[in-house]
Formats: sequence, structure tokens, C-alpha cells
Amino acid sequence: MMTIKQYIESVMSDAISRTYNTTINPNISKTSKPIFGDYQANFAMKLAGSIKDNPITIANTVVKALADDSHITTSVAGPGFINISISSALLIEQLNQILACPRLGIEPTNSVRRIVVDYSNPNIAKEMHVGHLRSAVIGDSICRILTFLVHDVIRQNHIGDWGTQFGQLIEYLIDLKHLGEDTTIRDFNAFYQAAQQCFNNDPAFATRSRKRVVLLQSGDPETLELWQQLVDQSYSYFNTIYPKLDLLLTMDDIRPESYYNPMLADTVQELVALNIASYDDNAVVVKLDDIKTKSGDSMGMIIQKSDGGYLYATTDLAALKYRVKTLKADEIIYVTDHRQKLHFDMVFKTAKLAQWIDDSYPIQHVSFGAVLGTDKKPLKTRSGDLITLRQLLDEAEHKAATLLSQKSHSNDNQNIANIIGIGSLKFSDLSADKQKDYLFNWDQMLSFDGKTAPYLINAYVRIQSILRQYPKDQSPRIADDFTSPFERQLALKCTQFADVILESTEGFEIQKICQYVFELAQLFHQLYEHCPILKCSPELMNHRIALCQITAKTIKQSLHLIGIRTCDYM
Ligand code: ARG
Repeated sequence: MMTIKQYIESVMSDAISRTYNTTINPNISKTSKPIFGDYQANFAMKLAGSIKDNPITIANTVVKALADDSHITTSVAGPGFINISISSALLIEQLNQILACPRLGIEPTNSVRRIVVDYSNPNIAKEMHVGHLRSAVIGDSICRILTFLVHDVIRQNHIGDWGTQFGQLIEYLIDLKHLGEDTTIRDFNAFYQAAQQCFNNDPAFATRSRKRVVLLQSGDPETLELWQQLVDQSYSYFNTIYPKLDLLLTMDDIRPESYYNPMLADTVQELVALNIASYDDNAVVVKLDDIKTKSGDSMGMIIQKSDGGYLYATTDLAALKYRVKTLKADEIIYVTDHRQKLHFDMVFKTAKLAQWIDDSYPIQHVSFGAVLGTDKKPLKTRSGDLITLRQLLDEAEHKAATLLSQKSHSNDNQNIANIIGIGSLKFSDLSADKQKDYLFNWDQMLSFDGKTAPYLINAYVRIQSILRQYPKDQSPRIADDFTSPFERQLALKCTQFADVILESTEGFEIQKICQYVFELAQLFHQLYEHCPILKCSPELMNHRIALCQITAKTIKQSLHLIGIRTCDYM
């Protein structure tokens, strides 16, 4: 099904090619205010530059060529914009199609691609922190959108379970066992710090740790067994976090760093043989002429240290090759914070030099900024420690439960507190511009006013309550015309859902979906305030109920695509 925007794009492109015998993107967008019409075309200024004509003349000529179209009315404004109003008939035809379509008018893609999404990615024997929350929430939403479009999505949780730090962690575990102490790591941060302190202050411990790394890398069974204990304890910790967050990720999606360990030596050798990497003081380095340091020198990426050890970058190169050659990915998306930008630039460039992928292969780093408190400093607990993800999730549910105890009459409060609490965390994260640092603010995210999950879930609950009161002997039906501008504005917004979802796949600006669903809920509230829905003639009631139904489904589907659940009561 063609959306209204796509319809306008097609008739506008056709009119441009008939009048100017050229193809140019008609650049259709929504207008900022209803008085300017429903959509706007901004191409005349650009075309004027290339064909050396006046933009107003161009806009007028194209408007004239569209005069016969019964679905749109156009007029020229300002320096050459074309304002476009659509007919009620077109709007109603669209609404009827959406009403009848379980996918709300969004067609599955006609070019299915296998897409690897690398996200969440916590580390073994370390607490998860808010950075891992951002990666998990953004990555999960990307997977949900791509899956809804029926792409073949492969989720990959690239857990950090390998590296030199495991030498000290294992030695520390051994020491604890010797002392007869409980070796269940309840507090990962304390365990990690204690191991690090021993390494820094006790030379004998440091020597043992270095030896232990070599034993681990050479596959010594006893060392692997101890390493496995650390891994198992971390996995059971992740299993307390993931279900709370309602992510798509399962244990089957874990392909940790250690998985690639057997491939690292070959990866390095291949790059050396291809002359992409070379020895430098016994270390192996990839020279990247296109990527410069601040002082203008070519960047080098170390892929093997002089002691023979491999690095984070080596693992990422092996993983990339595995994803392309073995998983047969057509596209790869990495979701991590923006401090890893240079790392991924170098990894992607190396993969292109090695011709594992060509220059046009879609591979992208979807990056995000830090999570900070309202004081613009890293999030801390009241006692001054960095806040862990577990504390954050518990607090979200606790705060939502308190809020509901003042507001709600439902006896399902614990479930609703989870939906509202976790939904608030996710929504406020996703609705922020992910390129910027994000200021974490409990009061704001849990408010029932403004662009928040509680506001949206509340709008959904309100519609459900209206639908429950709708007489059973009636059936919803869009009327032949609109009786109020509030109906029309809401209807127009409902028809824009497909455009928003399709546009969100370019660069994954998920905040656009958040903005859309917020505007949709606002328009519903305006209708609700200004127009009776149940207390009017049956014809009008059926028409408004049909609009409410589409709105509720669209809110639910939008929230589902960003990983937020709804409830029918509150
Ligand atoms: N474990 C890493 C961290 O906590 C993130 C891994 C990102 N993914 C990757 N393929 N390098 O920073």
C-alpha cells in the first residue's frame, strides 16, 4: 500500500518530469502548521539552481501541471515552496486500508537482507552500567524495527569474556578459594577492583597473573575451568537483568569474544600476507593511510602485541569476517557509545582493505553519547558510588510502584509498575538525540505530562476504557467526511505511521518514532477534549471509535517497536 506521502512524491515527480523533463527528489515533508496545508514540496529552489530559472516560476508551472489531480490541492508560497492539501477522500481511503490491515499499512520489505546487529555487549565479571542499558535499548529497538519489516535479523551479543584482565581475575579467585572464602561474586565491582589492586601492589601476584593469561590463551584445562566459573556467574547475573528489560536478546544470541579466539592467529597472518599489516618492533600493526591522527600522521592499529597477545581490535576483525563469510550477513550494525568511533572506523577500513567487504557494503556504527545526571556528571548513588544497572532498574520499578499507589485502582500493580518503570527508562533514553549526552532525570521521565512513557501508556489506557464502553451492537466505520478539524488532524497523523517507520531505518533515529507517537497521543487528547466520542449520533460515534481504534493500535505498535509494553488498565 502506498502512503499519502509516497502518493504525493509520485505525482509530483511525474509533474516535474512532464514540465521540465528532469528527475529530482521532490523533497516532500509535513508542514509545520495546518494553515500551510498538510505537506510541502521543497525542490524548486534546488531545481532553479541547476536549470537557471526562477524558483517561483518553476513552482507555479508544476502546480499548474497538477491542477487535474483530484486528490491534492497545491499552491505556491514564499520563495518557491509548494503547499499541498490532500482531499478527505484520499485520507479516508487510507484510513480504511489501515483499519483493515494488521500491519497498519506497513508492507514487508521487498528486498530482504540478512542483518547482524551487535548490541548490549556487557563484560564478564563486571557490573553492567547505564552505557550497556543504552546499547541494549537502542539495539533492541533496531532489531524490532528490522524484524517488523521482515528482514532476517541476527542478534549478536559480543560479550567481553576474554583478554589479559582474566589473568588477575582468575588468580584472585584462586586466592579466595585458598582462604576458604565464598567465591560467589555478588559484587562484581568489588571483586574486580580487589583483583586489580593485588595486581598493582603485589609483584608476585602480577607475575602469576601474567603466567595465567598465557595458560588461558593456550587452553590449559584447569585455567579454563576457573574462567568458566567466572563466566557462569556473570551469565546468571545477566539473566537477572535481561528479563526485567524485556529484550529480544536470549542466551542463544551470545557470541562472546572468546568464540573468535581460535580465528585470531589466522586473521593476523592473512592481513600480514596481504601486506595490510606489518611487523613493527615485534608487534603487528595495520597502517591506515586514510585515517589520520590529530597531528596528521597515518593511524596504526595494533592487532598483535610484541608478547604475542591479541587485542580487542583483532577479535573485532575476526568477528567481522565471520559475520560476512560464515553468517553471510548482507549488512552489519554495531551499537556502542561514541568513544568507540575511531576503533570501528579502523576495523571497517581494514576489512575493506582485506576485501572481506567492498566499499559499498552497508556497515555502520550506530553510536550514542554518555548518560549523565542532571548535574551533568556520571550517575551516582546517594553514597557517591557509580550507579549500577541493577540499582537503576530496581529504582525505576520502585518509583513507578509509588506513583501508581497514588493513582491506580488496578490489582495488577506490580506488572503495571514494571511496564511503567522500565518503559519510562527506555522511552526517555530513546527519545533523546542519541548523538548527544543524555541527562537522566527521574521526575521528568516518570511524569504523566509531556513526552514520556506514562503519558503515552495513559493515552492508550484511556482509549481502551472508551472502547470497553462502546456498545457491542455497533461497528466502527470511517464516515465519508470529517466533521471536525480535530478528527482530521488525528486521522492525518495515523496515516503517517508507515512513513515514520520507514524513515527511522535511515540512521536509526529512533527519537523520531518517539516524537511521532507523542504527537499522535496529543492529537487524540485534543479530540477527546473537544469532541464527544460516545455521546453523539451512532454514525458519528462509529466514525470516532474507528479513529480511536486506529490510534490505539498505532500507539501500541509504535511502543512495541521501541520495546515498550502497554496495559489495558491502570
Ligand atoms: N564489551 C564492550 C564494552 O563494554 C563493547 C563491545 C562492542 N562490540 C564490538 N563488537 N566491539 O565496551
